[in-house]
Amino acid sequence: KILQPTTIIIFGSTGDLAKRKLFPAFYNLYISGRMPKGFNILALGRADNSDEYFKNYIKENLEQFSRKKISSEDWAGFQAHITYFQHQLDEENSYKDLYEKLEKFDKVYGKRGNRLFYLSIGPNFVSTISNHIKNASLASDPEKDRIIIEKPFGHDKESAIELNNLLAETFEEEQIYRIDHYLGKETVQNILAFRFGNSIFEPLWDCKHIESVQITVAEEVGVETRGSFYEETGALRDMIQNHLLQILCMVAMEPPASLESGEIRDRKVDVLKSIRRISSDKVDHYAVRGQYGKGTVNGAKAKGYRQEEGIAPDSNTETFVAVKFYLDNDRWQDVPFYVRTGKKMKEKHSYITIQFKPLPTSTFSETSQQLSANRLIINIQPLMDIRLQFMAKQPGLSLVLKPVEMIFDNFACQEDTPEAYETLLLDALMGDLTLFMRSDQVEEAWDVVKTIQDTWEGRKDSSFPDYEAGSWGPEESFALVERQGHSWV
Ligand code: BG6
Repeated sequence: KILQPTTIIIFGSTGDLAKRKLFPAFYNLYISGRMPKGFNILALGRADNSDEYFKNYIKENLEQFSRKKISSEDWAGFQAHITYFQHQLDEENSYKDLYEKLEKFDKVYGKRGNRLFYLSIGPNFVSTISNHIKNASLASDPEKDRIIIEKPFGHDKESAIELNNLLAETFEEEQIYRIDHYLGKETVQNILAFRFGNSIFEPLWDCKHIESVQITVAEEVGVETRGSFYEETGALRDMIQNHLLQILCMVAMEPPASLESGEIRDRKVDVLKSIRRISSDKVDHYAVRGQYGKGTVNGAKAKGYRQEEGIAPDSNTETFVAVKFYLDNDRWQDVPFYVRTGKKMKEKHSYITIQFKPLPTSTFSETSQQLSANRLIINIQPLMDIRLQFMAKQPGLSLVLKPVEMIFDNFACQEDTPEAYETLLLDALMGDLTLFMRSDQVEEAWDVVKTIQDTWEGRKDSSFPDYEAGSWGPEESFALVERQGHSWV
């Protein structure tokens, strides 16, 4: 049930995320009739823009980034809900003005509206804004006010704890929506349905039957315009600590007793807690990092990372990470979970591979036929399907086996798939926390990568750059899985 009326206050409304994701998501929710009956989007920005100028800017961006084509009729309706508001993040008076502005909306609603604060700004401003929100009493009603915070949530475990404590001074945990947009992806959510809505897979979902799990999030893009942010962040913080560990949780979690948000979040924390911590002297054994040099991506010449804008010519920031994790619990004893992610890789492809164990004995051994491993491949993007790979008899007079595939194509059954941000913003408008990260999840995830982070911090990698743009990453990433007789799928 959508909470109404609601005022959505976007800090950083002229930024990249707002233009590519937030406004398109709100617009698509609007045209599908999913926005609250009474709503206002108050777009905050530093510059002295007129409403008209800002709305034109949003319209141009919608034309480029909206999932559904924009029509003049829908735009006319939608734009009436947007107000631009000049605001300085670090000035107390700006928050007083904001208070008055919010009161004005409430007057029109005829009651105190719900407030959804969206912090679409760099991580360094979260504490400033949160303090000001508190001091100016902007979020005075715990039943009605919520805050959405973008990742990265802190830059290590200590700073995440600090931030959680600070937010706790203004907001109850139930009011805090820490976004990890991977959890809003249709195919990631489908893991829950697939695992717990069927009786045929769950009995095989353990160390007795599964040989290894692989999670790959490969990107074609480089750092684009985010050089200075990325230099400080790197792939471990940007992707592994959040997106990849969250996917891992979806694959590895125990069946939740219900779909209640606390229950699902508890089961995910259990997974994070059970991930074996890598001791400092073993980091190089379990984790690999890399940085792209120049190359060719998708037929186009690509610069090396160190030549990108805002990047130091001797940068040590990693743009690729592969890690082998183990989970110390009954279900997953000794099953390696290989995760990898990189920028400027050969192709954009995110997918999960569940590889099943070989048969203990083979009926076909005397025919000296090679049996391919049974695999379940869950394609997250751009393909959105689930493939089961198994052996079958090749039609013909002799008994020859060949690997075949059974495919469920998510996209074919539902072309009108919402963007991750639509799903997550709608959930926030409804007050559903299930797909958002709780404080303990974030802290635990930082703990999982802590020794890797500490070991790499300040280390000069003389081998950087060590993979070509347009490849599948550095050689050591292959060695990491091959040592155990596996290979990246
Ligand atoms: C973001 C990272 O969280 O996710 C980016 O900061 C990355 O570096 C992006 O490119 C990937 O998201 P998607 O949805 O394009 O796979």
